[in-house]
Amino acid sequence: MTAKPSTSRSRPADHVDNGLYQQDILSVRQFPPPILDYIFNVADEMRTLVERFGSADLLSGKIMANLFYEPSTRTSSSFMAAMQRLGGQVIPINSVQYSSVSKGESLADTVRTLECYADLIVLRHYELGAAAEAAKWCHKPIINAGDGVGEHPTQALLDAYTIKREIGRADKMVVGMLGDLRFGRTVHSLTRLLLKRNITFRFISPALLRMPDEIRDEVIADGDTFTEHRDLEEVIGELDVLYVTRIQKERFTDLGDYEKLKDAYIITPKTLTKARSEMIVMHPLPRVGEISVEVDEDPRAAYFRQMENGLYVRMALLAAVLGRA
Ligand code: NCD
Repeated sequence: MTAKPSTSRSRPADHVDNGLYQQDILSVRQFPPPILDYIFNVADEMRTLVERFGSADLLSGKIMANLFYEPSTRTSSSFMAAMQRLGGQVIPINSVQYSSVSKGESLADTVRTLECYADLIVLRHYELGAAAEAAKWCHKPIINAGDGVGEHPTQALLDAYTIKREIGRADKMVVGMLGDLRFGRTVHSLTRLLLKRNITFRFISPALLRMPDEIRDEVIADGDTFTEHRDLEEVIGELDVLYVTRIQKERFTDLGDYEKLKDAYIITPKTLTKARSEMIVMHPLPRVGEISVEVDEDPRAAYFRQMENGLYVRMALLAAVLGRA
C-alpha cells in the first residue's frame, strides 16, 4: 500500500511508518494479522495512557474532521474523544443538515473542502461505497465509519480486540452472528476480519435477513466453515461468542417486513441458561430490544466493555494513520 501523496501540510520527516501511515481505512481487508496485532498492542497502550494520565499530546497540531451523514453516538463520539485525548482537535459535522450538504453540495466537494482544514476525515455515509468514492477525491486519509450496508471496519477492529481481550484469543472458536445479517454492516466487516483464523461461523437470522452471498462466498473461498440457522437454540450451547445485531429498520424498503421481523430475537437471561459459562455476548449497539436489560448483569454481557474498547482502538488507529504511533 502506498501512502497518499504528501501535501505542504503533512510532515513525512517525523512520521513512524507502521503500514497504515496516510492510508485510507476503507475495509478490514487492510488488516492482515501483523497489522491487526500492532493495532491491538497500541490499543493496550492507549488504555494504560487513558487510565494513568487521561490524555497525551501525541497528535497535538493535528485536526480530524468528523463527517457523519447518518446518526451515530458511539462511533462519532469515540472518534472525537480519541482525537482529543491524544491532544488533537476536531471539526465535528455530525448534523450534515446544517452544513452545505443541505444546499446540495456533493460528497466530493465536501471532502475537498474539509481536506483544506483537516489532516484526516472520518466519514459515515448511507451509501455503499461512499468512503471509497470520497477517498478518490481527497488527498488526506478517509476513515470509513460505516458506508450504508457495506462495511464498518473500525467497529470490526474493536470487536476483534474485544474478543481477544475477553477470551484470550481471536481464533479457533465458534462465533454466532445473530439478527440482521443482510443489512448489518458490522457483521460483514467482522466476518471478513475473522477469516482464515480457524473460526466456525454460525449465521442465525430470518430467511429475509441472511448473510449476503458475497460474504458467504468469501468464507468458503478462504476455507472457513459456516452454517445457517433460523433458531438460536440449535447452536447457542456451542458458541464462544454470540454477536447480536439490531434489525436495521432504516434499510427496509417495506416497513411491513420490518414490523414482522423486528422482534425475531430477544436475548433474555433464560436464553443464556443454555449458553456456555465462558461465552460472551456482544452487540455493536444501539440495541432496540434485542437484548433485554436484565442480561446486562450477566458477566457474559460484554457489550459495554466492547464499546469502551472502541476508544482505545480508535486512538491507536488515529495515531497509526497520522504516523505517530
Ligand atoms: C452500528 C452501525 O452504525 O452500523 N452502530 C455502531 O457503529 N456501533 C450498528 C447499528 O447501527 O445497528
